[in-house]
Amino acid sequence: MTTPPPIAMLAELTHRCPLSCPYCSNPVALHGKETELATETWADAFVQAADLGVLQLHLSGGEPASRPDLVDLTRAAHEAGLYTNLITSGIGLTPKRLDALEAAGLDHIQLSLQGTTPELADRIGGYKGGFERKMMVAEEIRKRGLPLTLNAVMHRHNLDDLDRTIDMAVELGARRLEVACVQFHGWATLNRAALLPTREQTEATKRKVAEAEARLRGTLAFDFVPPDYYADYPKACMGGWGTAGLNISPDGKVLPCHAAETIPHLTFDNIRDTPLRDIWYDSPAFNAYRGTDFLPDTCQSCDRVEVDFGGCRCQALAIAGDAAATDPVCRRSPDHGRVDRLLSEAMAEADSATFTYRVIPRP
Ligand code: SF4
Ligand code: FES
Repeated sequence: MTTPPPIAMLAELTHRCPLSCPYCSNPVALHGKETELATETWADAFVQAADLGVLQLHLSGGEPASRPDLVDLTRAAHEAGLYTNLITSGIGLTPKRLDALEAAGLDHIQLSLQGTTPELADRIGGYKGGFERKMMVAEEIRKRGLPLTLNAVMHRHNLDDLDRTIDMAVELGARRLEVACVQFHGWATLNRAALLPTREQTEATKRKVAEAEARLRGTLAFDFVPPDYYADYPKACMGGWGTAGLNISPDGKVLPCHAAETIPHLTFDNIRDTPLRDIWYDSPAFNAYRGTDFLPDTCQSCDRVEVDFGGCRCQALAIAGDAAATDPVCRRSPDHGRVDRLLSEAMAEADSATFTYRVIPRP
């Protein structure tokens, strides 16, 4: 297979964040401020990414607004010719900063929504007053006409609020709503019992999204990520390993996906030491699971192998203990019974489960 150039890059500018959501996709071992890349190193990485063929840059975290140089980084990405998307909780964005980001060439904002009421949102985000501040930022974004996607991370505690979530997306002037059911990587794995929705919630969500999609066509577009554990087949995670996108962690490690560091036998090159082009095309980590040759017979003989590429490598490792296995979410996987067991264990513990909020260690 010829390796295509990447289309998208996620720059995790920092792991710092005023919120501490229990489903955060950041690794459980968070990096402190002292390990973060300097402004010029990021700017150089953006130029390298554009040269490599990347079109879209997602400025993410943690909370990217925790970086004082966010405007400079946005300008550098814009000048490199990248389409820039800021993935933010909104906390740390002021009207003045939004003006500066717009002037620096910011193309799009993806605003997270933890819940539809202050009580729920602040409890999920672990940050009192966060909801009110987010609503003020959303209004400032709306006033400026900046293209907005609302990213609602959904789980057991807020899925019943989906109708209100959809109404809020319309009221806030969002063009797109991501109904993103929690994926069990990073901190979410520590909170599986507290976060896993019920099968009934999942079925109701599918119906509501389909109904709203038809009703709001032309007003609001939907991206729906259903809960993996109730699916028959896995998603094509990252559009295939080392195929469509890459991530850079706050300390400069170049990763095929946000959870790749959970695969212990892989080592990842750092943008401080190695050109991005060499990492993308030649590094053992990016080549480890490219294509489909590494997959077992279950996938090799399956008509969906070029659709989902056997699913998620990190999930295969986490549940089946082998990153090269068929994703156990697949009903054809010999390990599918493990997903059913995880589901029943989580449901048995759900009522007594409390949140483990993410925390960043002090240096
Ligand atoms: Fe996808 Fe493999 Fe399952 Fe087929 S057997 S649906 S290729 S994960
Ligand atoms: Fe790593 Fe899916 S999260 S391959």
